[in-house]
Formats: sequence, structure tokens, C-alpha cells
Amino acid sequence: MSESAAGRVNTSLRVEVFPTRELAEKAVADEISALLRAKPTAVLGLATGNTPVGVYRELIRRCAAREVSFARATFFNLDEFCGLGPADPTTFRAWMRTNFVDLVDVDVRRVHIPDGAGDASARARCALDYERAIGDAGGIDLQLLGIGRNGHIGFNEPGSARDSRTRIVELHPWTREDQASGFGGLAHVPTHAITMGVATILDARRLVVMAFGEKKRELVERTLATKDDPAWPASFVHGHRAARLVVSADAAPR
Ligand code: GLP
Repeated sequence: MSESAAGRVNTSLRVEVFPTRELAEKAVADEISALLRAKPTAVLGLATGNTPVGVYRELIRRCAAREVSFARATFFNLDEFCGLGPADPTTFRAWMRTNFVDLVDVDVRRVHIPDGAGDASARARCALDYERAIGDAGGIDLQLLGIGRNGHIGFNEPGSARDSRTRIVELHPWTREDQASGFGGLAHVPTHAITMGVATILDARRLVVMAFGEKKRELVERTLATKDDPAWPASFVHGHRAARLVVSADAAPR
């Protein structure tokens, strides 16, 4: 555990450093398992990307071993690309199915992923419906988050406001670059996405921000040194009442 050292903002964010990524992932899986035991109908906010993969793998294992069940749980994903068809394998929807949803006992009718297909007015409607659906489900109990290279959370790119809600955003050039390999080249990466807003994320009752590996160290340091700055959207997590930053030793601030 690290506490506020020089270069860190005053925060209630709990920073937890684990010796290895695997131990950090187990700790996050433990929190989710405990939540589901206490509240089988829990609403989980889920993320894509390399960061949460190990947590999903551990939860899949526990589900197969009947140590945890998602049968009554509800999922809301953070974001989705715009302009891809429903059968496109590069959607986050497809990614979630392959990496988690199809491998646990969740009822797919309670799996929500924003819909980035359709024209501008369909997407705007979808954004509003998404906010409403989260509200109807009783709000998100626990939201998983990774940090993008430019400090984004979900697809809340630099410039995103504290009070932003689910909406269509233009992707930052670095974000598109980071997605290029999955799309067979930068030219094929969508230019826009639909994402929960910063306020949508902060409404979750708990946040678990994860960062693993040497490449994330600088992002972790910047997140700890910045507060409520739209130029670094991850900095908004300091304002949350129950947020954990879970990092492996190689991503820990120096
Ligand atoms: C994507 C997702 C984010 C994720 C980020 C980091 O852009 N929209 O939710 O946190 O990338 O990805 P990774 O975990 O692969 O580093």
C-alpha cells in the first residue's frame, strides 16, 4: 500500500501494490466474488482491453468451479466502437463474448453493451437508453477500469468533462493507434465510439482501476499527481468515495 507521497494529490483513492499481476488480479476477482455472494443480483460495470483479461480468466475458473455465479447479475460495458455491424468480430461486444460472457453463467439478456451501429440519431438514442437502463438496473455496484495511454477511462478522451454522460466521442489519435493491430491497420480503426461518460462512471458505487506492467507506470504516476483535470480523465477518480487503484509492482509509482 502506498500513501500520499510527494508529487501526489490529496486523495481518498486507495492505492494497492501487489508483487505480481496475478496476485492483483486475484484480489480484484476476490472483491467481485465477495460482492456477488453478498448481492447475487449485483450490477457490474465491465471493461475491455488487455488489463482486465486475467480478472475475467480467474472469474471464469471460479464460475466453472461453482465458487461464484453470475446467473442473477447484470453487466454494463463501458464502451463500443461506432460504425461496425453486429456480426463484426472487431466489436467490443464480440470481444466480451469471447473473453468472458460466453464462458460464465450470466443470462445474456442482462448483458448490456452500448450500440455504436446505426446513424447519428440512432446512436444518440442509444446513449440516452443506456443511461436509462443503468438507472433501471439500480445503478452500477462495481465498475472495472483500465487507463488508456492518454489517461482515458472508457473512451473518455482528454477534454472529457466531469459531468459527461454516455455519448458519441471522437477517438484520440493514440487510441486509434493502440487499436490498429486488432483492425489490421490504422486506416480500418473506427474514428468514433460510444462511451459511458465520466459522470456515469463516477456514479458507480465502487470503482476498481487497474494498471499492470512497466508501460503503465507513467500513467499511474500521472494519475496520482493529477486531480479533476479533463486533460487526464483518469484524474477524476480521486473524487470518488470508494475507489481502489490496483497495480502490480512493475506499474507502481516510484
Ligand atoms: C481501451 C478501452 C479502455 C481501456 C484502454 C486500455 O481504449 N476503451 O477501457 O482501459 O483501452 O487498454 P489496455 O487495457 O489494453 O491497456
